[in-house]
Amino acid sequence: MRVLLGVTGGIAAYKVALVLRRLREDGHSVRVVPTAASLNFVGRATWEALSGHSAPTETFEDVPSVAHVRLGQEAQIVLIAPATADFLASMAHGNAKDLLGNALLATQAPIVVAPAMHTEMWTNLATQANVSTLRERGVHVIEPAVGRLTGADSGPGRLPEPEELVAALYAVADGQAIPLAATAADDAGWGDLDGVRVLVTAGGTHEPIDAVRFIGNRSSGHQGLALAHAAAERGAKVTLIAANVVLPAGEGIERIDVETTAQLADAVTSAAPSADVVIMAAAVADFRPRVVSQTKIKKNGDSGLTLELEPTEDILAALVAHRHERQTVVGFAAETGDSTATVLEHGAAKARRKGAGLLVLNPVGAGQGFGDVPNSVTMLDVNGVAIAEASGSKLAVAHAVLDRIVSMRASPS
Ligand code: CTP
Repeated sequence: MRVLLGVTGGIAAYKVALVLRRLREDGHSVRVVPTAASLNFVGRATWEALSGHSAPTETFEDVPSVAHVRLGQEAQIVLIAPATADFLASMAHGNAKDLLGNALLATQAPIVVAPAMHTEMWTNLATQANVSTLRERGVHVIEPAVGRLTGADSGPGRLPEPEELVAALYAVADGQAIPLAATAADDAGWGDLDGVRVLVTAGGTHEPIDAVRFIGNRSSGHQGLALAHAAAERGAKVTLIAANVVLPAGEGIERIDVETTAQLADAVTSAAPSADVVIMAAAVADFRPRVVSQTKIKKNGDSGLTLELEPTEDILAALVAHRHERQTVVGFAAETGDSTATVLEHGAAKARRKGAGLLVLNPVGAGQGFGDVPNSVTMLDVNGVAIAEASGSKLAVAHAVLDRIVSMRASPS
């Protein structure tokens, strides 16, 4: 079954690592959402390593794939352990201040809560009122155990042992007719890209002229990063090849840094065969200096400098040529209109020329396109026909592109 495991900020969080391990041993698919406070007790790496998936904490500002909704919607059962007094209060009020709060509001799955706190906090009337409210709403509250607490004191408030928590969870699942036997479909149920291997290139290549100078472009990598992030959110195993990108990649994303087109081509060539989807969002230099000076080129009086450029390899063309069956190849085209054709006409011609399954056409220039600014794209099929449009934040655009990719993969033409 698919278990959403919420971990809140109590010292007993360490015991929940064993709950997670047991659930995984039993074959269940678990997504962990730790609160920020809980990370003081058990770090994110533990949850990610034991669950095999990213363990996000925050609800991102603009996530059209809506992890907060998806996690809640797709979970078959939810366990919150340990649940602090503060979390119980927050839950009783339906607060959605972080990813876990959001996911709980979005779920219709049975919720099992295992409170753990000092006896005084547990018996406090406010906590008891919150617990009653939750019980009235159908939340299954596991009574805390009686025994030694964090300090020298003891009493009710202790988190039950891991095997008791697992047994209580299974008992609720059983009572709700949720099949306890794990199936392969469990894992795929979390996201529409679950288990799909996605390779994204981002940023812009630099072609050295001499020891200090290069020919580059204005790509910041924001759109490529947004694609990588959005794909990971939707369950994909993401590899990011970042060309001169200073931004961090985010959790759970394998990152390879490159500088030149040749390095990008090498990295893509070795990573692409094992990818189900390749998205070429990087702005790739079309030319590089034929000769690179190992030392800084000096000025020579008033005379100028002529650089001889040679074409670089067309990575997208090679990808399309070697595309394996079931692999989706997506290109990007940053275009400006000119006297010969509109942006759309240039884009359509490029879509036909490049032969990628999808070409994302991106008008650039005059404040459009580059950096952390809203984006607006038209998606073209291999015949240059516009099949979808998207605009908004780069993350919103990323999700719209992924929506197309998902539907293309669902019904390959
Ligand atoms: N691309 C590539 N290798 C290159 C140049 C571009 O893989 N040497 C990829 C880009 O990553 C992008 C797509 O091709 O996905 C379109 O890039 P663009 O620069 O718009 O197209 P070009 O083929 O370079 O055409 P032009 O510059 O003449 O518009």
